[in-house]
Amino acid sequence: MPRPLILGGTTEAGVLAALLAEAQVEATLSLAGRTRHPAAQPLPTRVGGFGGAEGLARYLKDQRITHVVDATHPFAAQMSRNAAEACAVLRLPLIALTRAAWQAQPGDRWQHVPDMAGAARALDRPATRVFLAVGRMQLAACAAQPQHHYLLRLVDAPQAPLPLPQTEVVVDRGPFTAEGDLALMRRHGTEIVVAKNAGGPGALSKITAARALRIPVMMIDRPALPQRPETHDPAEVLRWLAHADLGV
Ligand SMILES: NC(=O)c1ccc[n+]([C@@H]2O[C@H](COP(=O)([O-])OP(=O)(O)OC[C@H]3O[C@@H](n4cnc5c(N)ncnc54)[C@H](OP(=O)(O)O)[C@@H]3O)[C@@H](O)[C@H]2O)c1
Repeated sequence: MPRPLILGGTTEAGVLAALLAEAQVEATLSLAGRTRHPAAQPLPTRVGGFGGAEGLARYLKDQRITHVVDATHPFAAQMSRNAAEACAVLRLPLIALTRAAWQAQPGDRWQHVPDMAGAARALDRPATRVFLAVGRMQLAACAAQPQHHYLLRLVDAPQAPLPLPQTEVVVDRGPFTAEGDLALMRRHGTEIVVAKNAGGPGALSKITAARALRIPVMMIDRPALPQRPETHDPAEVLRWLAHADLGV
């Protein structure tokens, strides 16, 4: 019987968890522990870092894990690298459950930047109204550009003062709609959106709304990730579990 570990923190990992629970697979879900009230999960769940690739390898061995599914966010590059390294050392089968990156559509006005630091550098311009659609952990990168008014949408209400002086905070974990984001951005007077190329439908609404408003999007391109087998389809992971070589 396979005993897979699912590295989660995404909608797709949640969909996969439901499929595995239904199929009565002895799977464990792993969350980083970034949100205060994570959604209830249908699988046994562990929370918190493993202690790098070495710590992960130790965990995989101790728990007799047979397969690893990397269903983390495309910007969780460190976790993906650790998973690839630990699986290579233990010769465990690894698959990534990913989302295709968004592609610019007619009407989109995208400026590509390579990472969060690049976005902050590109914001070195006169004061404007920015929908900074990145997570709490990345806000500090924009501290050097305090002239802007920032709209922030966060999963949890901030517990500490924010590193940006002029902000409007909306606490919401979605799902979001293009109509809702259009109304939000109109009310805020958003002139530019800063977004990570997350891909998938869940976070697309702000991009659709920016297109409708004809405002630019500063699109943070995806980080480089390790080469590994990949699927966009959670059901495909079940088929893979049934057939992947254990290699141990
Ligand atoms: N980055 C984003 O934009 C984003 C957006 C939505 C959701 N998320 C989710 O939030 C989590 C953290 O993202 P991140 O960008 O901070 O990741 P990251 O930079 O790649 O990971 C940093 C460290 O956090 C721990 N970690 C990350 N994901 C974990 C998981 N699923 N289970 C256990 N430990 C985990 C690991 O600590 P150790 O080295 O100690 O093992 C990892 O080295 C991920 O699960 C990701 O799927 C991220």
